[in-house]
Amino acid sequence: MNRPPFPAAPGRVLFSAGVIAARLDTLAAELTAFYREKPLTVLPILNGSLPFAADLLRRIPLPLHLECLSVASYHGAAQSSGTVTFRQHTLPPVADRDVLLLDDILDTGRTLHAVRQRLLAEAAPRSVRVAVLLRKNKLRAEPMEADYAGFDIADEFVIGYGLDYEGRYRNLPELRVITPPC
Ligand code: XMP
Repeated sequence: MNRPPFPAAPGRVLFSAGVIAARLDTLAAELTAFYREKPLTVLPILNGSLPFAADLLRRIPLPLHLECLSVASYHGAAQSSGTVTFRQHTLPPVADRDVLLLDDILDTGRTLHAVRQRLLAEAAPRSVRVAVLLRKNKLRAEPMEADYAGFDIADEFVIGYGLDYEGRYRNLPELRVITPPC
């Protein structure tokens, strides 16, 4: 793809666009094998998982449904606020569907835990599994683990490919590690 270069992004490259693409190939093959013959609904948690979801979905040749859920937990800062806010009142229609939740990163676990609990309590899915692009190696605030993870990383602050710092850098094609503030 011909892209104009990004001017001076902060920090150091953790995973290049090429490395991410290669990992998504493998992850998508695994998901395709698991969800063949199942009524799959993919449910990306916005905003951070948008690039991950778009690139992953196009590698899964199944008749899946796509629904989105918009949730905020960081509010633009570098620390989790500790509260998870659902930006819409109604949940997507996933009754009797096998739901695959997608998120950019599993950090404290609060976001995915809150979303999964609410789906299970209110939306009657057949199953709920979780795929994240990044999984931070740390103790979680909630009992939450991912069924699929693109990359395991140290407890560092990451930007790019959907992840932001104060609302910026989501459109970087690669993942970078920064030391806030920057
Ligand atoms: P939790 O802590 O609930 O985190 O597992 C989930 C959400 O918090 C954001 N998050 C990050 N955003 N760099 C970011 O730009 C990070 O290192 C980071 N850690 C967590 C992210 O939106 C994620 O969905």
